[in-house]
Parts: sequence; C-alpha cells; structure tokens
Amino acid sequence: MWAFTDECPPQGRNDTMRHQHRSVTLWMMLLASTQVLGAAREPVDYNPDTHVFTLSSPHVTYAFGVNERGELQSLYWGDHRVPDDALPAAKPDTGSSSFDPSTGSTPQEYPAWGSAFYTEPALKVSFPDGNRDLVLHYLSHTLSGSHVSVLLKDISRDVRVELRYDIDPDSGILARSARIENHTGKPLSVQQAAAATWNLPSRSYELYSLSGQWASEWHLDRRPVLPSQTVLESRRGSTGEQNNPWFALAPAGTSEDVGPVWFGALAWSGSWRITVEPDIMRRVRVTGGYNPFDFSYRLAPGESLDTPVFFAGYTPGGLGEASRLLHRFELMHVLPPLAPHPRARPVLYNSWEATQFNVNEAGQLKLAEMAARIGIERFVMDDGWFGARDNDHAGLGDWVVSPRKFPRGLQPLIERVHALGMDFGLWVEPEMVNPDSDLYRHHPDWVLNFPGRPRTQGRNQLVLNLARRDVRDHLFNVLDDLLTHNDIAFLKWDYNRNWSEPGWPEQKPEDQQKVYVAYVQNLYWILQHLRERHPKLEIESCSGGGGRVDLGIMRLTDEVWPSDNTDPFDRLSIQDGFTYAYTPGVMMAWVTDSPNWVNQRSTSLEYRFLSSMQGSLGIGADLSHWNGQDFETARRLVAEYKSLRTTVQRGNLYRLISPRDGSSYSATESVSSDAGQAVLFAFLHSSSLRYPYPRIHLKGLDPQARYRLRMVAGNPEEGTPPEASGAHWMSDGIQLLLKGDFQAAAVVLDRVAQ
Ligand code: GLA
Repeated sequence: MWAFTDECPPQGRNDTMRHQHRSVTLWMMLLASTQVLGAAREPVDYNPDTHVFTLSSPHVTYAFGVNERGELQSLYWGDHRVPDDALPAAKPDTGSSSFDPSTGSTPQEYPAWGSAFYTEPALKVSFPDGNRDLVLHYLSHTLSGSHVSVLLKDISRDVRVELRYDIDPDSGILARSARIENHTGKPLSVQQAAAATWNLPSRSYELYSLSGQWASEWHLDRRPVLPSQTVLESRRGSTGEQNNPWFALAPAGTSEDVGPVWFGALAWSGSWRITVEPDIMRRVRVTGGYNPFDFSYRLAPGESLDTPVFFAGYTPGGLGEASRLLHRFELMHVLPPLAPHPRARPVLYNSWEATQFNVNEAGQLKLAEMAARIGIERFVMDDGWFGARDNDHAGLGDWVVSPRKFPRGLQPLIERVHALGMDFGLWVEPEMVNPDSDLYRHHPDWVLNFPGRPRTQGRNQLVLNLARRDVRDHLFNVLDDLLTHNDIAFLKWDYNRNWSEPGWPEQKPEDQQKVYVAYVQNLYWILQHLRERHPKLEIESCSGGGGRVDLGIMRLTDEVWPSDNTDPFDRLSIQDGFTYAYTPGVMMAWVTDSPNWVNQRSTSLEYRFLSSMQGSLGIGADLSHWNGQDFETARRLVAEYKSLRTTVQRGNLYRLISPRDGSSYSATESVSSDAGQAVLFAFLHSSSLRYPYPRIHLKGLDPQARYRLRMVAGNPEEGTPPEASGAHWMSDGIQLLLKGDFQAAAVVLDRVAQ
C-alpha cells in the first residue's frame, strides 16, 4: 500500500499477511476530504448489472470491468464526459488469429503471465513443482471513499492479488498498487511484479521520458511509440539519472497547451522498470514496478509482497497542464505536509563549492557571517566535517565530528549560526562507507557483496547493505544521536554511487534477491522514523545531483538536488526537464561562482540569481571572493525572491519558451493559485543579427483583473504600460529589451485591488 499509513513496515515480516488489514490510510482520508461536491459521478462506483467499476474526478473517468471469463478488463480512461451508458460491460476481444488468441489481446488491468499471453505481464511467478502458469480472475471487491480494492485469484491455485486503486478527486490522478499473497501452503517465487498496467485508448502516440547522467540530468526525450517495446529502467539499485520513472504519452501534435496527455510516475527509489508497448490491436500498454532484471522474491506460505505505487493521470490540456497537475498533486499529497514548517522553502547557503572538504570552525563561521548579511535563512555545512574526511578516499561511515576540524564540537558553530538568524543544516551520506574507515574495518561484512568476488568501488566507496537489520539499526541510531545532540534543522542526504555485486550472503541463496525490496524499505523506514523522532527536521534527497528523485523518496523528503551542474545556463534546460515531472517547489538551485567549474562559462551574478530563482533558491558561491557590489546585488535579489517565492514554489508553472533544442531564448512564468501574482523569468543566450527578443505572452492571468508591472531585473520596451488588464498581458504581451550574451530579466505582475 502507498505508505501514507501511520505504520512503517515492520522489519523481517514486513511482507506477511498479519498487516493485511491496515487501518484507513491517511492517503484515503486526504483524498476523501478534498472531494468536489457536485461532481458528475461518485469518486468510485460499481455497477452490479454491468460489473463495471469507475473512478472519477470532475475531469477524468477511469473504468474497468469483469468480463465473462472473469478477467479484470480495462475499459476507459479519459475525459469525464462519457455517459454511464457509454461504459459498456467488459467484453473480451475476439482475438486476431490463432497466433493471437483473445486471452493475450484483451486489455487486462493486471495480467499475469499464463495462458496465451505475449505482451509484458504485470506478474510472473514460479511454483516449486515447475508450474509457471498463472491466470488471475476476479474474486471480490470493496469500495470506500475514493478507494477501490479488487481481489483476484488464480483459476486453480490459491495465489491472490489485491489491486488497490485511489483517485484524487481534485487532479484525477490515480494511485495503483498490488499485493501478491501466497495461500498455496508451499513457497513460490515472484519473478516479476508490477504496480500496474495502464491501458491507453487505441491511437498512435509519442512517448516523452527523462534521461541523463551525472551533471547532465533531465533531458526530455520524445519518440514515436513503435510496435516494439520501449523500456525505461534503472538496474542500479536506486532511481538513477539515466532514466527517471516518469512518462507521458500524447498523440503527435500535442503542445504545451493543447492535446490529450496520459502521464505517470512510479513511487520507488530502487531498481525499477516501465515498459511501453502497443499490443496486437495497437493499444498501448504501460507496465511499471519492480525491475524484473535479477529479481526474485520468495514468498513462504502465508507471506505477501507489496508493490510500489504507480501514479498516473490524464488531461486534455497539453504537456503544460500535465505538469501542473503533477506539481499540485505532489505539493498536496506526496511531500511531507508543511504544517510544522509555516514558511516556504528557506533560502539556504551551502559550503560545498566554496570549501570542498576543507571545512573547519573558523572557515564555516566566516562564511556564516557573510551569508547572514544577504538574508540567508539556513546555513548548511557540506561534506568534510566528520571522521578522517579530508578527501573522498576516507571517512565515510564514521559519523563522528572531526576533533581536528571542530575541537569544540559542532555546538559553537550552530549557536553562532542561530545567533545570526539562520538555522543549521548538515551533509550526510549514510548508506555509504569508504574502505578506509573505522566502520569498514570493524564490519567488512556490512556492504553489498558476493563472497570471494571483487568489491567494485565508486568514488572510493562501497554501498552498505541496508537490507540488513543490524545495518539499518546502526544507521538509525547514529543519525538519531547526531540529531538529538545537535540542533540540526536539515540534513542533505547524499548517495554518490550505484550498486555493484548486490549480494546478501547472510541470507539463503533463494532469498538474497530480496535485497532489491528490503534495502529500499529500510531506507524509507529510517527516513520516516527520523522524521517522527525529530518532527522539525527537513531533508534533501541528493544523489550526486538528481540520481534519486521520485515520488517514493519525495514522500519522506522536503526538497531535492536536481544536478551537481550549477552552471546557470545549463541549469535552464536541466530545470525545464525537471519540471515535466516534479514541482519547482522542491527544485534546489544554487547561485555559484563564475566562471563555473563545469564548463568555465562566465555569467553575471544577476543572471545566476535569476536562473536559480526559478526554483528553490540557494547560494553556493565562495562569499569571500565577493565585493561590496556583489553583496548588494545578492541582498536585493534574496529579498526579492522572498517576496515572490510562494508563487514560484507553490504556484502554477507555464513553460513559455523552452530552452531545449539549442534555443537562444527561454522563459517561464509562475502564477499564484489565486492568480493574484505572476512571476516571469526570461533568458537570452546570445543576440543574433538584429533579431529582437521574442514578445512574451503571459498565461493563466485573470483577464478581467488589472495587474501592475514591476521589473525585478532588466527593462521592458519604452511605452510598456505600468498597469493593464490580464487580457492585455496575455494577448498583447510584453516586449523585453534583452540584448547581448547571457542576459536575463525578471518581471512581477501583481493584481491591483479594485
Ligand atoms: C555530491 C553532491 C554535492 C556535494 C558532494 C560532497 O557530489 O551532489 O553537492 O555534496 O557530494 O561530497
């Protein structure tokens, strides 16, 4: 179940059926409390005459039914204006030929591999007698609030699958997951388990996905869906930068503003896979969950396995609206609630690019004094403060304050940071160990490994096997202790390599591959329990940049680090790609030094600020190199940011001009949820010939209301009215005077009280 429960999976027996009947989840309560009165349909419904289930929001309907064979057949997913009598009873396909009989071509909600079936199954198991055939038929269901649960069972063996559905009545975003239960009395092995199969209406599509690598994350890829299967995946043990577990499917010609889009994101921070393939009838199926590569999960009699949650939605409003729906959903239903933290994301300072590993009390104090001068609210000390950590060859695992660098401990630094009006944050990388560390010298068996085989290092470090109970408890205790004895408001939780040799030798061979599930469950367990024990704690998910950003980790963290690439121009496309799936409210963006270390590009401080102000602002520059003018610029722009950050972090984002595909221009606009404020950022790479900067037409304003224009940076052309209607700014637009190289402007439009 999507773990909006107040329970954490108990270690070891987390997959047993003892926990089958959990209390009503917070998730369901949240959704139920936001039901929109007067919606055409109930959020969930079942028609006993046709055996059709519907999940509905005011804009979206999703329907499936039980067909005459007992299969759970997908029926409809799209605009809500489909009348009930247009939702037919489920009827299996006739099949296309003897090569493609009906069992394979009929779109099922959760097809198991069995019978005649040739596309990607959601579930594949193997029994001890050699049987691998599994055919799931409807057994029973329950409905409540916005939740549907359907129980399926194999036609002869007592293997049951509980399919869980929730719909957010606001956005129409669905949450699906499955629980696989073994009641056969003998062990069985789950070889492949998806959270869901999504069947889309029959038409041709283009697939959008996000790919990248270290310091070059969040490329938006677009390709036609061809008859072959497209695989998006991570085999890395964590989410990864290579692909992100997000997809969108839309017919060719769909734009930012117009056209149907089906989109989804998997809430899992371990190895994952999403496959996209048309079936023989050219209907596109999207199946996602645990990555079946190297996967095997043995279920003893009476045990069960929960899949991650796969979220998905539909909009007729183009890719821009798909992103806005996801952003709102993440802010409302995925991220930890803001309740104990009354403000938006604080403006932070981070020491990494300024000092690297060379941290000490005097140096950090000096940076903190300078940071306070420009209005920083959170001071974060990055890597280098613990153990023998003078470079990346030693110390990871030894989470003890270095007495050489901090002879008085962290407290004097923390107290001074507080006195300067900031709270204090610290970098940690708990899941890793350098072989040159006390922890590894004492516990060489604590890392992922196959005995007698090499232990491949990445950044001179190995991955602790968090699936082990002792490792989990050790890390929890060390971090709990650190947080209990120091007033730490924030942890930057890093993770700087992927898995290799993923052995778990303490387990029986047939249970070792459970590491793919148990590791991530224990990571979530630690994060959740730390948050419970330290309710004011905020956490950033970082993995050498954007290597662990997904809806699973976002449930337990407050912000993410999208990329180690802090070049402000590269960041424009990185941030653009990021926002297809994730809200700018969690997108940390630092202002760093120029020329930038990534590419030696030189840019003005103002340009760097404006690029970072599109997300959650931070400063990562070496402030000791700044002159008075730099401090003045920074003080002014930090103050400006504080006045507009709620709109940027929690408003509706419009990607007006995309920086992708080598464009010289880019622009984004954020509009507050009540349309009272709009913030426009515009960037120019370089002027060419005598072309003017494109005229920018705003979006999402109230056409009747009047808005006053205020320039935060840059200038509009002469004659631009200081105040005009929303209709004017949207239809006539605004002409900015941007010329030269790496220029930027920022504009605020505030609704005028009338
Ligand atoms: C990773 C992070 C950086 C920094 C270093 C510290 O690369 O992405 O921001 O924290 O680790 O070693």
